[in-house]
Amino acid sequence: MEKIVSLAKRRGFVFQSSEIYGGLNGCWDYGPLGVEMLNNLKQQWWRAMTYREDVEGVDASILMHPRVWEASGHVENFTDPMVDCKQCKARYKLDILFDELSVKKKKEILRELEPGKFEGQIKDDRVIEEFEKRLERAPEMVHLLSCPNCGNKGTFTDARKFNLMFKTFVGPVEDSSAVVFLRPETAQGIFVNALNIQSASRQKVPFGIAQIGKAFRNEINTKNFLFRTREFEQMEMQFFVKPGSDDHWFEYWRSERMGWFEKLGLRKERLRWHQHAPDKLAHYAKIAYDVEYQFPFGWGEIEGVHNRTDYDLSRHQQFSGKSMEFFDEESKGKFIPYVIETSAGASRSFMAFLVDSYHEEEAPTGEGGMEMRVVLRLNPKLAPTKVAIFPLVNRDGMPETARKIEADLRPLIRVFYDESGAVGRRYRRQDEVGTPYCVTVDSQTLQDQTVTVRDRDSMRQDRVNASQLRTYLTEKLLS
Ligand code: GAP
Repeated sequence: MEKIVSLAKRRGFVFQSSEIYGGLNGCWDYGPLGVEMLNNLKQQWWRAMTYREDVEGVDASILMHPRVWEASGHVENFTDPMVDCKQCKARYKLDILFDELSVKKKKEILRELEPGKFEGQIKDDRVIEEFEKRLERAPEMVHLLSCPNCGNKGTFTDARKFNLMFKTFVGPVEDSSAVVFLRPETAQGIFVNALNIQSASRQKVPFGIAQIGKAFRNEINTKNFLFRTREFEQMEMQFFVKPGSDDHWFEYWRSERMGWFEKLGLRKERLRWHQHAPDKLAHYAKIAYDVEYQFPFGWGEIEGVHNRTDYDLSRHQQFSGKSMEFFDEESKGKFIPYVIETSAGASRSFMAFLVDSYHEEEAPTGEGGMEMRVVLRLNPKLAPTKVAIFPLVNRDGMPETARKIEADLRPLIRVFYDESGAVGRRYRRQDEVGTPYCVTVDSQTLQDQTVTVRDRDSMRQDRVNASQLRTYLTEKLLS
């Protein structure tokens, strides 16, 4: 992971936010290559989700009426239990404190909790299982933990509920009547607009509404680069269906969403489904599955697929006093649809694609030896630069010809021109940022107007007539 974070910074994918001031925890900035790749990722999602007959798009505002978050249940339920160390004042999310305990520590806690019961040799699996079973005694167990920061034992406060929504104020007066929240999910902007969108677009159930946008959560523990941040982007779609057809649509969207990650190149063996246990379901969900990716630090959710039933629309009807019912053509009656939600993190998926594409491998040098090359085997659709153009040397008219090729391609695709250093080094620099093709103008070009096109993954070089280059590259990039 460290190598990827370092590459991301060095090559301009991702920087720490406000780095010159020491950074702001849980916030990251996307550099020139990062923003391009993130935009490509969002565009792929947008195309897959909205370039179809039954899904419309929306871009709702981040600030919404505060009653939205009462209706959605976020004011009451969007909380994490948290503890403070009375000694060093460090603050922790309770579940993370428990997750990060070693098996040895878990065994010690079990022994203290139930003296005499766990003496002698116990297998690791059994320790973990017995520990999990006792997690409902967390309020008691927290006082047996040591603080990871200062090492003191028994210094934690009782667990308290901590709401993850960021608060701010609208207007000049900072009193309780002016409180608004930064949205913790984009979904609510879809729910409150559902009927507007349905009537404006003349859609009939089943249909969906998709949105990409920023969401904010005051996470207690941010960690693992872009995985858990305080400001992030979501790509969410709510699909409105007739109650009774929800199980069918749930399975349909599950398959679509896993297929999307696979088609864009994430390795199948690093993807899996995780079903939420009934006692771990979000307050709005009847059933939920996460798409998980195997990051270097372990499996982590990149997208959630939820059956949210009629929870959100019913609650908005109740809290706003406005009907959220849809008209049913068949029965000529009204009903509140069920909602199947697909909710992907743009930033988390970005990180999964970055991690998945990172390879270190032996490659031949121009001098007949071998060297290590770092290559991002990104799907060309996601790659920030599609083609790099090099004159082999800076003379004999090669730069001029290369510049002509650049000018021809630039309106179509994102290209990069580089004339500095040995050509082998230029290839390596492009491999490292995932550029799928490098075009080199050499002495043969000046004789027969052909150029070499080098493929990033196979490192094979084809000779292509410069006049055919546009067609050759666009076919390759679009396939
Ligand atoms: N509307 C449903 C919802 O928000 P969620 O499981 O809390 O569900 C959906 O979030 C997705 O948003 C996650 O799968 C993840 O990719 C992303 N996400 C959630 N919290 C995040 C955070 N703190 N940092 C980065 N991404 C996050």
